[in-house]
Amino acid sequence: MQLIQTLQEMQALSQNWQKDKTIGFVPTMGFLHEGHLSLVEASTLQCDTTIVSIFINPSQFGANEDLSSYPRNMERDLQLLSSYKVDYVFIPTAEDIYPQFYRTWVNVEGISEVLCGASRPGHFRGVATVVLKLVNLVNPDLMFMGEKDFQQVAVLKTMLSDLNLHCKIVPCPIIREADGLAMSSRNTYLSGETRQQALCLSKAIHKAKQLYSQGIRDIKILLQAASKIIVDNNAEIDYIQFVHPETLLPVEIAETDTRMILAVKVGKTRLIDNAQLRA
Ligand code: PAJ
Repeated sequence: MQLIQTLQEMQALSQNWQKDKTIGFVPTMGFLHEGHLSLVEASTLQCDTTIVSIFINPSQFGANEDLSSYPRNMERDLQLLSSYKVDYVFIPTAEDIYPQFYRTWVNVEGISEVLCGASRPGHFRGVATVVLKLVNLVNPDLMFMGEKDFQQVAVLKTMLSDLNLHCKIVPCPIIREADGLAMSSRNTYLSGETRQQALCLSKAIHKAKQLYSQGIRDIKILLQAASKIIVDNNAEIDYIQFVHPETLLPVEIAETDTRMILAVKVGKTRLIDNAQLRA
């Protein structure tokens, strides 16, 4: 496993990828957990070469968000990655990614403005910009991304297709703690009571899926039952929506591929989760 710390080194490597080899890429912001590692594993199984990037992207954090407190532990991350068949770990600096007078931004219209995009203006502009830059630098065939960030996958799929990039996204399932909480680097902000409260997201999903399996298709009923679980746990609903899996537009009648997607504030921590209604 080789560390790559400059853009020049990364470009020199990626310009010489052999045509008959499949290059897999796993972009991350570090503080790795089993969710990230499941993507690394998938890439090493499906690709000849795997590159993992670790970069806390400042441009995807809002002014009042947690950029300065975002958890980090590079030593531990590298140790975790060393037990997988990772070929390269790309660790660029913020100064290299965003030099002085940086001017170019990627906006994926519509799909970036709903759900998390409505609550976190500018977030997906930061994500799309950094991922396009990373894809240009790494030149992968496949990019492994978690469905934990369902909207992120939808936004980036649109970007790759609209801009005629050859890289394709491989969406990977959400990895959860034993009690149902979706793994996230931000779970480190939770403890004691808030860790218990955080279970309300997966419980709300479980309830909606249960009602769906009993034949209920009216979104109003699903929404009411899910919302009650969040409110009863003293958590704050940012949004709960039932959407079409590709357009992310709300539906009124649930179908098998309808995606339930929610963002909830537990104490000061904002958590997201989602699931297809039919398992
Ligand atoms: P980060 O939050 O570090 O996540 C990196 C990748 O891990 C994303 O594709 C995310 O969906 C996936 N992931 C996180 N938790 C997961 C879980 N519980 N199960 C499965 N996959 C999970 O997402 C980002 O970083 C950034 O926005 C990034 C794409 C790197 C751009 O800066």
